[in-house]
Amino acid sequence: MRRQIDLTGDVAEILLTEDQIQGRVAELGRRISEDYAGQELTLVSVLKGSLPFMADLMRTITIPVRIDLMEVSSYGGTATESSGLVRILKDLSSSIAGADVLIVEDIIDTGLTLNYLIRYLRGKNPRSLRICTLLDKPARRLVEIPVDYLGFSIPDRFVVGYGLDYGEIYRNLRFVGVLRPEVYAD
Ligand code: IMP
Repeated sequence: MRRQIDLTGDVAEILLTEDQIQGRVAELGRRISEDYAGQELTLVSVLKGSLPFMADLMRTITIPVRIDLMEVSSYGGTATESSGLVRILKDLSSSIAGADVLIVEDIIDTGLTLNYLIRYLRGKNPRSLRICTLLDKPARRLVEIPVDYLGFSIPDRFVVGYGLDYGEIYRNLRFVGVLRPEVYAD
């Protein structure tokens, strides 16, 4: 029988509390606002996992920003392992030629998704292209990614919450945590 989902009861451990996340996001917003002072910045967020981070981060930034959204899916992998094969489900809405672009990501794991995205966006001739990620799992990196703004480095564990999902669930948790082993086994 299919196990009943218990949004908070399925969580075994909280790695980052709501307060920790919000504090760090505010710091990142301050730094970004200083670094890009006098410029117009375009934030490009990658759906769906980056949605809460993007929404919070953009409101801590005090310079004018444009936003655009992409959605990519990696295919050929499993629920907890990415394959590096990336398909664009939603492309940019506007041109980024000549723009200062900051990619806003939820998490860098192997780096394969972002590696693909960086090449893709560079091909659109932005003036500058930098990377902001809330979470980084450096232990699993397969390709080197130059991260300009980092929220937290985390251990090699599959995490959910604050946008991150397992089987499309748990994205609406306000913290980042790890699920009980029996949930992943399902
Ligand atoms: P990468 O291509 O291996 O760097 O994987 C990047 C994507 O995999 C992220 O944008 C997430 O959507 C997903 N991902 C990687 N690690 C986790 C995790 O611990 N929890 C939830 N999703 C993850």
